[in-house]
Amino acid sequence: MEIRKSHDSEHLEIEKIHINAFGPDKGPEIAELVIGLFHDPTANPLLSLVAQENGNFIGHILFTKVKIIPEAEPVSASILAPLAVLKEYQDKGIGARLIKEGLNLLKQSGVDLVFVLGHPGYYPRTGFTPAGVHGFEAPYPIPEEHAGAWMVQELSSGVIGRVKGTVACADVLNQPQHWRE
Ligand SMILES: CC(C)(COP(=O)(O)OP(=O)(O)OC[C@H]1O[C@@H](n2cnc3c(N)ncnc32)[C@H](O)[C@@H]1OP(=O)(O)O)[C@@H](O)C(=O)NCCC(=O)NCCS
Repeated sequence: MEIRKSHDSEHLEIEKIHINAFGPDKGPEIAELVIGLFHDPTANPLLSLVAQENGNFIGHILFTKVKIIPEAEPVSASILAPLAVLKEYQDKGIGARLIKEGLNLLKQSGVDLVFVLGHPGYYPRTGFTPAGVHGFEAPYPIPEEHAGAWMVQELSSGVIGRVKGTVACADVLNQPQHWRE
């Protein structure tokens, strides 16, 4: 299994991964979000990785730029959204490998913080912790009972605690329909 940056010519294969993983109800909306982010200048710099096995596309992860408002000090931040692994390839560690490889590459490129809105039983396995308690607000309020789903991870030590604010995503992701859990 190989993990590498995706190419612009692979958007159709990437859409298919999300439709398979998220299913027929939610999949098309997520695929549309991904393609929208690929074409959204405010999402840059973005990092898009695919997992491939024997030439087949089996997983995809996307990280896009976010700002932290107020921009009190220079900080480079991204958000992980979305992540998908084909149903028949799930529970084999592919999702975790995509996350770890993505975080490594982001760290190398100078990203300080990575956010995610996702399953609180899954993302802490790769180093994410609740973000609200550290003073990071999501673009739209997260209901108290789901507070644990809004998470952050620092890639440079000392950023958490020093930086606080409201996360503003790329235009395409900063829409309310992507923030109801
Ligand atoms: C979530 C997803 C990306 C995980 O990828 P994966 O390759 O199957 O995950 P891994 O193999 O790295 O990890 C599997 C473990 O995570 C657990 N896990 C998977 N999804 C989980 C969830 N939603 N909540 C809690 N734990 C979860 C599995 O039960 C498994 O646990 P185990 O190691 O104790 O057996 C994949 O299941 C998927 O594509 N799901 C549909 C799309 C989706 O929900 N994406 C995430 C949006 S935030």
